Amino acid sequence: MPETGATLVDPIRFRQLMARWATGVSVVTTRHDARDRGLTVNAFLSVTLTPPRILVSINTDADALPALRASGAFAVSILSATQRALSQRFAGRVTPEEKFAGVDLHRGRTGAALLDGAIATLECRLVQEIPAGDHALVLGEVVSTEEGPDSPPLLFFRSGYAEAEPDELLRLPRGRDPR
Ligand SMILES: Cc1cc2nc3c(=O)[nH]c(=O)nc-3n(C[C@H](O)[C@H](O)[C@H](O)COP(=O)(O)O)c2cc1C
Repeated sequence: MPETGATLVDPIRFRQLMARWATGVSVVTTRHDARDRGLTVNAFLSVTLTPPRILVSINTDADALPALRASGAFAVSILSATQRALSQRFAGRVTPEEKFAGVDLHRGRTGAALLDGAIATLECRLVQEIPAGDHALVLGEVVSTEEGPDSPPLLFFRSGYAEAEPDELLRLPRGRDPR
């Protein structure tokens, strides 16, 4: 095995390969000193059920990261297929004020912005931050959840969004109630 960093996999090819991993799209938000911050995130996963913990991977350059650390809390809004424009907006290199201008939102327990129309929202307290090169792996414990409309999710694949009528295209499962 080559040592870390001595891998022969070209970064561009790696990126293209990983783009074949289809994901949902979320907006991670936090609020500190009465100011909202947020960014689009697809590096999101559940880690443990008990306690309920999730992980997001956030670029260390991200504007939201210092505020997230300072507030010790954040929220994840899972976007619906109709929220592509919000995904683009929160991925833009614009000021936090421009990101949030005119966005319909409400607030839950942590004070972080929860985007209206999201198919689900989770609010978390920051448990641990694990440094990972130019990203921070942010582990959060879920303290509150909301189920949004039963709409199809926004999906990201090969660096693009799935079309707006995924019901037919993807034959989305209806889901089942957990035990
Ligand atoms: C679909 C999609 C998924 C993204 N996922 C992540 C992610 O998981 N982590 C991350 O740090 N940035 C991710 N980004 C990029 C950030 O949203 C983007 O860099 C944003 O500009 C950061 O906000 P800032 O410029 O205000 O710091 C993603 C962008 C898109 C379009």
